[in-house]
This record gives sequence, structure tokens and C-alpha cells, in this order.
Amino acid sequence: MSGVRLVIFGRQGAGKGTQCARLSERYGVPHVSTGDMLRAAAEAGTPFGLKAKEIMDAGDLVPDDVMFGLVEERLAQPDAAAGVLLDGFPRTDEQASVLDRILGEHPLMAAINLEVPEDIVIERMLARGREDDTEEAIRRRLDLYLAQTAPLLEHYDSRGLLVEVDGVGTEEEVAQRLVAAVEARRS
Ligand code: AP5
Ligand code: MG
Repeated sequence: MSGVRLVIFGRQGAGKGTQCARLSERYGVPHVSTGDMLRAAAEAGTPFGLKAKEIMDAGDLVPDDVMFGLVEERLAQPDAAAGVLLDGFPRTDEQASVLDRILGEHPLMAAINLEVPEDIVIERMLARGREDDTEEAIRRRLDLYLAQTAPLLEHYDSRGLLVEVDGVGTEEEVAQRLVAAVEARRS
């Protein structure tokens, strides 16, 4: 049986991080969240991390070339050899092309779109209160998602990889739907 290697899409606050943590435990593959990696760098206070924090707090995207190095290095780690759950990458056309190149002979099993309407994600994010969860940054992130990341769904759909999952409901309900989607792809 092949390893679980997938990308999870969904607008900000859709529950990608929440659900990837569960899937990672269930399938024994790492959850690679570029947002978490950037926040860890910010926390460490390195010049790179501080610059990234400024960009994140404004709700903008960190430049592609920086992201490529970060992701390529992470996916070269031994724990990602058997599979990975990518959360927050790719976010642009260019990132999607680079991901294909990095994955090489171990392509994605699926690209999941965790669908949650905008009014619900805004409510969830304002309740969470992360540093980039100000109304202004949330608006900017949602706009960028619509303009740059949502079009990638078409790219994966045309390759037969896109799986739509309803992300509204309790965490447990959504988790069950995701596991069913993954199992359907594995069998
Ligand atoms: P990133 O960390 O990826 O943030 P995001 O895209 O804004 O997505 P979120 O983490 O906000 O949403 P999520 O879907 O993970 O939701 P969560 O599980 O937390 O990126 C942050 C920034 O980093 C970007 O803006 C950018 O600057 C930079 N960056 C990252 N990757 C980049 C890239 N590739 N290129 C360039 N820049 C990049 O859930 C949200 C809340 O809802 C939580 O409080 C949770 O407890 C709650 N919740 C979850 N599920 C449910 C449920 N079923 N019911 C009720 N509440 C729920
Ligand atoms: Mg997240």
C-alpha cells in the first residue's frame, strides 16, 4: 500500500492545521505546514523569521524563492520519505510547479479541498486570535487565497487528483470525512 502523500487546500481557518494533526497521527506521516515553519522562525527571532513575521502579520505571501528552499529542505528529511501532508504549500502556480519537481517520482496521491464558507472561517479565526488574525490581515489573506490559490484547484482537478471534502461540522465529523476520502484513494 502506498504512503499517504497529499496536499490539503482550504481557505484560511478552514481547519487544515487541525485536521492534518489528526491525519498525521493516524497515518504516521509528517504534517508539513509552511505557516507553522514560518511562525517557528519568527519565534526564534532570526532575521529571516522577523522579516517573515512582518509579511505574515500583513497577510501577504512570503516570496516564492524563500518558500522553495524551505519546502525542499523539509521534504528531503527522512520522515517525509514515506509520505507527507502538505498544508499551506503550494499557494501559487509557481509553487505548484516546483512541488511537482521536488516530489519527482513520488507524486501526490490527492489534493483535498476542505470547503468551508467565508463567514464561518472568519468567525473561527476571530475566535482563535493568532497574531495574523486581525480583520485586515484576514481580509488580505482571503483575497490572496481567492486570487492565487483557489485557481490551483483547477490544476489538480484536471489531473484527476482533486477531492472535495465538506469542512463544516464538528472536528470529529470532518475528520471522519477526510479519512473516508483518503481511504477511497488508497484502495
Ligand atoms: P498559514 O499558517 O498557512 O495560515 P492560513 O493560510 O491563514 O491558514 P490557517 O492556519 O489560518 O487556517 P487552517 O485551515 O490551518 O485552520 P485551523 O486548523 O487553524 O499561513 C500563514 C502565513 O504564512 C500566510 O499568510 C503567509 O504570509 C505565510 N505563508 C505560509 N505558507 C506560504 C506559502 N506557501 N507561500 C507564501 N507565504 C506563505 O482552524 C482555524 C480555527 O478553527 C482554529 O481555532 C480551530 O480550532 C478551529 N476549528 C477547526 N476545525 C473546526 C471545526 N470543525 N469546527 C469549529 N472550529 C474549528
Ligand atoms: Mg493552519
